[in-house]
Amino acid sequence: MGAVGSSSTSSRVMCNNVPGLVTRQRQLCQRYPEIMHVVGVGVSEWKAECQHQFQHHRWNCNTHERDQSSFGKLILRSSRESAFVYAISSAGVVFAITRACSQGELKSCSCDPKKKGSSKDSKGSFDWGGCSDNIDYGIRFAKAFVDARERKGKDARALMNLHNNRVGRKAVKRFMKQECKCHGVSGSCTLRTCWLTMGDFRKSGDLLRKKYNGAIQVVMNQDGTGFTVANKRFNKPTSNDLVYFENSPDYCIRDRDTGSFGTAGRVCNQSSRGMDSCEVMCCGRGYDTARITKMVKCECKFHWCCAVRCKDCLETVDVHTCKAAKDAGWNEKT
Ligand SMILES: *[C@@H]1O[C@H](CO)[C@@H](O)[C@H](O)[C@H]1NC(C)=O
Repeated sequence: MGAVGSSSTSSRVMCNNVPGLVTRQRQLCQRYPEIMHVVGVGVSEWKAECQHQFQHHRWNCNTHERDQSSFGKLILRSSRESAFVYAISSAGVVFAITRACSQGELKSCSCDPKKKGSSKDSKGSFDWGGCSDNIDYGIRFAKAFVDARERKGKDARALMNLHNNRVGRKAVKRFMKQECKCHGVSGSCTLRTCWLTMGDFRKSGDLLRKKYNGAIQVVMNQDGTGFTVANKRFNKPTSNDLVYFENSPDYCIRDRDTGSFGTAGRVCNQSSRGMDSCEVMCCGRGYDTARITKMVKCECKFHWCCAVRCKDCLETVDVHTCKAAKDAGWNEKT
């Protein structure tokens, strides 16, 4: 800290040009300039995961161009979708920072220094070895950086975001697992070295997707210090539940105010009965069908040993896309 010189000057210039940072985030950026790149990687990872989780839904985790700044406020109000976005974005930052620590990409952290010496588990004693992912560092940094946006406002929305950010961070820690390697005569496992490693980010994505389904609608309590469940028939939210205030729009029609892109032009599935069916996806507006021809692998045969060889075949498929809303097309009223 307090370093003077060209590198601190250039990081100040860089940090002043990252759009959408609050003051505290700008300070963290200046102090840890190399972390900003990792935060950026985390952002593209959580966006991809979010889009994967919601690919068959009307809301497919698209964000408006002007919200593309890492942590620019998404215009999703305080809906269930907003709860998911806050949680998965926090999880993404935890994941990216922790991985970068293990890969030696950051000056301020490394593998977990506490996982040293020997320890015991149900199978007996072992030595910590290799590199244990430093999840606590990832969580601390993500908390400081991501939560900074909410520190100023002590309003309901800020409390909701902080709560969901925390659910996201925990969704990464939960999949930490111990891996071990056996040593000793012919793999007898008389000696073991073990390390802690993060699971695949997909696991956190799947978990948060389930939490989205079970998210709990809340209202502020009387003294404004926390939440109570909006509908008394449901359970109170715990620190593991996603919480939201407002009902979601149906996401059928484009509407900037609610962050809805609408489903015009989205691909739907004619044989599905789920959320991606043409009925549900197109909100009853109907769909257009285009016949397209594409190259696919076919007649694949297994060759001893060990290859699979396929032919290229042309396949014709129908692609269905949702029509736009009637009143949006001025030329339909000729
Ligand atoms: C469409 O839905 C059906 C039934 O759920 C499914 O079997 C099929 O794989 C889906 N097609 C595409 C292209 O996703």
